[in-house]
Amino acid sequence: MTQLTPVLTDMWDVEQGWKLKPYEAKGGYAALDVAFGMAPDDVIGAVKDSGLRGRGGAGFPTGMKWSFIPQDNPKPKYLVVNADESEPGTCKDIPLMMGNPHVLVEGVIISSYAIRANKAFIYIRGEVLHVIRRVQAAVDEAYAAGHLGKDIHGSGYDLDVVVHAGAGAYICGEETALLEGLEGRRGQPRLRPPFPAVAGLYASPTVINNVESVASVPAIVKNGAAWFASMGTEKSKGHGIFSLSGHVTRPGQYEAPLGITLRELLDLAGGIREGHRLKFWTPGGSSTPLLTAEHLDIPLDFEGVGSVGSMLGTRALQIFDETVCVVRAVLRWTEFYKHESCGKCTPCREGTWWLVQALDRLENGSIDEQGGAELVDQLLDQCDNILGRSFCALGDGATSPISSSVMYFRDEYLAHLRHGGCPFDPARSTVWA
Ligand code: NAI
Ligand code: SF4
Repeated sequence: MTQLTPVLTDMWDVEQGWKLKPYEAKGGYAALDVAFGMAPDDVIGAVKDSGLRGRGGAGFPTGMKWSFIPQDNPKPKYLVVNADESEPGTCKDIPLMMGNPHVLVEGVIISSYAIRANKAFIYIRGEVLHVIRRVQAAVDEAYAAGHLGKDIHGSGYDLDVVVHAGAGAYICGEETALLEGLEGRRGQPRLRPPFPAVAGLYASPTVINNVESVASVPAIVKNGAAWFASMGTEKSKGHGIFSLSGHVTRPGQYEAPLGITLRELLDLAGGIREGHRLKFWTPGGSSTPLLTAEHLDIPLDFEGVGSVGSMLGTRALQIFDETVCVVRAVLRWTEFYKHESCGKCTPCREGTWWLVQALDRLENGSIDEQGGAELVDQLLDQCDNILGRSFCALGDGATSPISSSVMYFRDEYLAHLRHGGCPFDPARSTVWA
């Protein structure tokens, strides 16, 4: 069986492991001296060689993103950590920041050094005040210990870190909307290109990385690119945090090499809750197309999940057993997208509203079979008119659970039509009219 690889999570069970002393006792902040002994370009090279790909969902190669920062640009360079984790089902960055905030701070210092930034921001969603406090406390401890501020570890390198509380909008996890928020404006996406690496915060070159990506850097610098690249699969290297939620015996975060399968993760998590069976699941949060029990053995890496028409995303595995009505689950997610649509573009602003109307009629409405059959096709048509026509990935993401669930569970949609609403009886197991 695939073993867990506790690197990011190794402090989670240590008493008060979020504090500086226990972190230093386990070798924390030692990677700084290794990094400062290297030229910034060599740090970028090491991260490139490691094969680390962005852990926020898109999987863009981290070292390559860093190398896009134009060093001949006289403007200041910035590092921004995207800690606005909000995707339904995604719950890895928040536990990581709670369990081991110093690995993030150490990663921020090395990443900033590599791109020659002297100012970094950690943008955390505003609702999670306890996380903001914990990260701020870690930053304060790091300053007091000389890990941050002027002439860090006598290297001549200066870095200031600002912990910024977002105002609580899912769209601010989209990197350019995050920048708008950070600059004090309403969080709405900007046109890309230019990508933030060229013109980001205050129109300056900016690297925006996910919490887990940045937190992965100290171990790469300390243990070497080859160590990291020895884990995972050919094109998806290293380890990552897989979040299992829903109908599993032991939900939680499991750190494992990329390429592990859901079957193996379920073995580690005690399986589907007793007496039940897997019905459907998301590989990477609600924006990634649903998969079913036929996909238990696909490798959970960017290529493996992509090969079955879905995406690895944030490795947020939401597990649903046969007691769940797929239409109801999809309606809930779509309500979320409608609520969080920033309103900037018509396909998403209007489209998510129409999607909720159609799903609500299916789940709760009284529709005759003929009109309803058309409704399922209308639903797919609406998805077609949102996908690829929206200004940012939120609109596209809203369509994923719908089109994939119709593909795998069309019969269940049609059963809603025959029944004139949801035919599911939650008191028993699934009962179809
Ligand atoms: P993307 O693929 O457009 O970009 C990924 C990163 O690479 C960005 O930082 C972008 O600036 C950079 N990049 C791409 N091409 C570039 C180029 N030519 N030059 C310079 N930089 C370049 O993906 P996007 O739209 O940033 O993110 C979408 C992903 O976010 C989805 O796959 C989804 O899984 C994930 N997501 C995560 C959430 C969370 O809570 N963590 C919430 C919602 C979505
Ligand atoms: Fe805003 Fe949605 Fe358009 Fe993105 S797709 S810009 S969230 S309205």
